[in-house]
Amino acid sequence: MFRDGARKSMWQAEIKRFETLPTQDQLFDVAIVGGGITGVSTAYRLQLTGLKCILLEANNLGFGTTGGTTAHINDFFDTTYKEAISKFGLENAKLLAQSGKEAIQIVHNNVQRHSIDCDFEYKNAHLFAVEDDQVKALEDIVDGAHQIGYEMTYVDEIDYPIPFKKAVIVPKQAQFHPVKYIKALAEAFEQAGGMIVENCLCESYNEESDDVTLVTSLGDIKAKNVVYATHTPPGISLLHFTTAPYRSYAIAFTLKNDNYPETLGYDLYDPYHYYRTHRVDGETYIIAGGEDHKTGHVEDTGECFSNLENYCRQHFDMDTVKFAWSSQYFEPVDGMPSIGIAPSSNGRVYIAAGYRGNGMTFGTIASAVITDLITGTESPYEKLFNPKRFKPTAGFTSFVKENATVVKDFIGDKLSMERIQSLAEIKEGEAKVVKYEGNSYAIYAEQDGNLHVLKSTCPHAQCEVRWNNAELSWDCPCHGSRFNINGRILTGPATEGLERLDEDLSS
Ligand code: FES
Repeated sequence: MFRDGARKSMWQAEIKRFETLPTQDQLFDVAIVGGGITGVSTAYRLQLTGLKCILLEANNLGFGTTGGTTAHINDFFDTTYKEAISKFGLENAKLLAQSGKEAIQIVHNNVQRHSIDCDFEYKNAHLFAVEDDQVKALEDIVDGAHQIGYEMTYVDEIDYPIPFKKAVIVPKQAQFHPVKYIKALAEAFEQAGGMIVENCLCESYNEESDDVTLVTSLGDIKAKNVVYATHTPPGISLLHFTTAPYRSYAIAFTLKNDNYPETLGYDLYDPYHYYRTHRVDGETYIIAGGEDHKTGHVEDTGECFSNLENYCRQHFDMDTVKFAWSSQYFEPVDGMPSIGIAPSSNGRVYIAAGYRGNGMTFGTIASAVITDLITGTESPYEKLFNPKRFKPTAGFTSFVKENATVVKDFIGDKLSMERIQSLAEIKEGEAKVVKYEGNSYAIYAEQDGNLHVLKSTCPHAQCEVRWNNAELSWDCPCHGSRFNINGRILTGPATEGLERLDEDLSS
């Protein structure tokens, strides 16, 4: 399988390719766009209700964030229960906790029903304050949890060789191999009569009163309902102003000793580090993650890996780093995911986005929420996750301002780029945005000197892309679209690639 970066994640393995093509003039009950955990889980659940579903993926299943997650399945979240109580009230915070528990149960049920060999395990988690200033944050997390009756217990020892000031244990979290899980679920979906089409890019949609037409790279597909399981949908939507793209970094390493932690682990730095143990192909690894930053906002993304490795080496008896990869997630302005009818839709287009670092949990609960909404069943989470809930609050204003600053930064960048006069300044293995005869180009020189020259303007909403040297991609800081060195889309919301201009420049 392939994923959306040059680095190999720990989960990449051979995955069955789905070659089916829909015949013309078929009307589906639901077309699901995106073959990650949200899309596959939702397609599977909807198909089991008797609806006729088609799952469309622009690349291969697991190509996006699901192929790059570290696959913690939690029912406590990046948005703490204390924050949830203060923003949404006590009852909604309880509902949020319930959604997490239900998500873990759904994964467990699916694993059992189909005897899925995906290393699913329940695990306890340790949350620990490493510095004095993290102690208050931990106490707040525990206070919020206790207010809603969520179990967190202070402990004197943790599974990690990291000195800490205060720590808690949280029972019954979980972990799994995300690609093995979605692969088995996709097969169960097919066996139940569902159709999967890979290498099918959905470029746009047209919602009418009775159905939705998807314009795809393989022709038009009609369905009564469409679910965008692609983070943000194509086009410009309110969601692009209420969620921001972030990158997170992960390494998987072996130890010289055999002290692999049993629990999931999290410190309280901002951004925090997260850890767990997983056995793949007969070898045990600690997977550590962190160094998160807003997409397109770090000059040298390779440094994020060295920072993470250096930090881990200080604490673990590390032997070899075998895998290092990064992936993308989206931060919503109010900390709550958006799952339900899209803000711009009249009722036939659904989205699921803004999961923060809790994609496995929210991607799974999205399958239940969206299935309930489409089948007319009452969902307890409909209001809590309603994508139409956003009002221009103080938080929203500063969030939008932050994005405005991004755009300003880029105008400044463009001016400074004017100083770059010659393509010859690009060394082998380097990439730059270069001003050339009044136009702006994203140029990458391969080690053999081969130049890849693209228009540097993101086709989604005309922001300027930035180089990501860790994954060899051009990343858009505005809404998170990403492109490979040939300009091909790795991640939406853009639905076309960066214009390729190699020939223009060489002529
Ligand atoms: Fe929106 Fe690039 S992703 S402008």
